[in-house]
Amino acid sequence: KTTLIIDCDPGVDDATGLLMAFAASNIDLLAITTVGGNVPAERTARNACILRQIAEREDVPVFAGAARPLVREPAGAGEFHGEEGLGDMAPFVPAKGAEDEHAVDAIIRLVMSRPNGTVDLVAMGPMTNLALALRREPLLAERLKQVVAMGGARSEGGNITASAEFNIWADPDAAHEVMQSPVPVVMIGLDATHQVRATEERIRTIEAIGNASSKAVAGMLRFSQRVERTIVGWDAAPLHDPCTVAYVMAPELFRLRPAEIRIEAQSDLTRGHTAVEMRGDVLEARHLWAVKADAEGIFDLIGETLANAGVK
Ligand code: BDR
Ligand code: CA
Repeated sequence: KTTLIIDCDPGVDDATGLLMAFAASNIDLLAITTVGGNVPAERTARNACILRQIAEREDVPVFAGAARPLVREPAGAGEFHGEEGLGDMAPFVPAKGAEDEHAVDAIIRLVMSRPNGTVDLVAMGPMTNLALALRREPLLAERLKQVVAMGGARSEGGNITASAEFNIWADPDAAHEVMQSPVPVVMIGLDATHQVRATEERIRTIEAIGNASSKAVAGMLRFSQRVERTIVGWDAAPLHDPCTVAYVMAPELFRLRPAEIRIEAQSDLTRGHTAVEMRGDVLEARHLWAVKADAEGIFDLIGETLANAGVK
C-alpha cells in the first residue's frame, strides 16, 4: 500500500484524480490538502469536501491551504473547470467541512511523524503549500519518499503561454523552491498527459460503471470534452491530474527519464517555463520527467478502480 497525501486545486481533472484515489484499495490516503489555483481557495477546499462526500470517504481529512501564490497574484482557470471548479456539477454545502488545521501544518505533522521514506505526496495544483511546508520544515524534503507532480511542459509547449503549463505558471516561485530542494520529484507534464485523452468511448465505459463516483467522473470528463472542443479545438480532452494517481498505483504505465528540472520564475515572457535538462551526466539527478504514458492502461486502471468505489 502507498501512504499518500494529495495536494490539489479541484478542478475537474483533480476531481477525477481524487475520486480515483478515494476508491483505490492500494492507497492509504492520509489527507487531502487544498490550494488556490483553478478556482479560489475557498472553492477548492469545499470541492474536495464535496468529492469526499460523493466517494463516502469522510474518514479522510481535508485541510485548506494557501489562498495566494508566494509572490504572484492569484490567477484562475475557470474557463476550463467552470466558475465553481466542478464543471457542470452544481456545488452544495458538504455535510463535513475542512479541518481547522492549515494544510501546511498538516503536511509537516503527518509526514514528520512517520518514518523516513514512507509517505508520497501528489501535487495536482500550484506548489504553494509544498513550498511553504519546505520553508518551515526543510527536513521534509528528506522525509518524503517522493513528490509526484502534475506540471510542466517540454516538447509539447505550454497550455497557458507558449512556454508554461498552468500549475507551474500559477506559482513559479513555489515550483522553483520545490525543484531546488533535495526532495525527489517525478514530474508528469503535458508531454505525457497530452497522450492520455478522454475519448467518447472511454467516457462511456466509465459512465457505464454506474456508481456515484463513476457518474461524477463521467460528468467531469464530458465537461472537459466540451470545453476542449470549443476553446482548444481538440476532439478529446487530455486527462492531466489523474496521471499522478495512476503513477502512484502503477508506475509501469509511464516511461520516465532522469532529469534536472529548473523553473523560470523571473521572465515575463517565459514565466513558469520548465527547463528539463536530460543531457549528459544527469543520471544521478533527483528528478524524473515523464516522456510516455500508456493511455489505454491508465483508462483501464481508472475503470477498475472506480468500479470499487464505495466498497470498503
Ligand atoms: C493543470 O492545470 C489545471 O488546470 C489542471 O487541473 C491541471 O492540474 C493542467 O495544466
Ligand atoms: Ca489541478
